[in-house]
Amino acid sequence: MKNSIYAHQYPTQTASGPSQLLKNLLLPFFSSNSPQIGQQLQVDMHAHWLPGVDDGAQSDREGLEMIRGLAALGYRKLIATPHIKTQYENTPKMLKEFFDRFMKVVRKAGIDMEFGLAAEYMLDEGFEAHLKSGPLLTLKENYVLVELSHHNIQILPALQKTLFQIQLAGYKPVMAHPERYGYYFENFKTIEGLKDAGCLFQLNAMSLAGYEGKEVTKRARKLLDQEWYEFVGTDLHTPRQLNYFNKLALSQKFQNRDL
Ligand SMILES: [Fe+2]
Repeated sequence: MKNSIYAHQYPTQTASGPSQLLKNLLLPFFSSNSPQIGQQLQVDMHAHWLPGVDDGAQSDREGLEMIRGLAALGYRKLIATPHIKTQYENTPKMLKEFFDRFMKVVRKAGIDMEFGLAAEYMLDEGFEAHLKSGPLLTLKENYVLVELSHHNIQILPALQKTLFQIQLAGYKPVMAHPERYGYYFENFKTIEGLKDAGCLFQLNAMSLAGYEGKEVTKRARKLLDQEWYEFVGTDLHTPRQLNYFNKLALSQKFQNRDL
């Protein structure tokens, strides 16, 4: 439903019901039979391994370590999603230059994978200008990764207006890690409202692994039970976080491999 703020038909990806609920409760768990998370998903569509542009990798060495770690998890394609928000002066043009330079470093290091460049847009006071000046850096075609501020809480009508503008401009918003937005979970209707407003949802794999605390894990499982996530991303910021992905297995199918 391109360009519509209403998507009443939520995607159903796999069987639901008691067996799916049980799987979601039991997973993530380690099983020698389960493929690694990268083999399952094929494409990581949210990560901060592009060096020197945000709070992710701070050097080529760190960026390479993160890429090698993701390759070891079985991913075949990695999409960098540096932050674009008021705190950083990132623009698509400048990010492309940083990306092209780093790709030469990656190839020189003998790493043979597919790479892409998108961005993670904060829906803050500066976003409208990015939307107007466009084009936005997208995951593929018109899919744009967006996030909400933990400090600058917006009420649902304001968010819906922004999401409407995004879709009016021809983009499909993919909401990064909705399970992390505690404030919006206090009234679950807000999360429903984001889905109603046409957002696709992206789960942070680390949320399932407990990196953000028990409450976030609980919220992630609730959204998994609703089958409201279309994508899973690592949101990797440092090589240290790679340890969180070894024991993860996912019981649903997601749309990552289409990116
Ligand atoms: Fe991120």
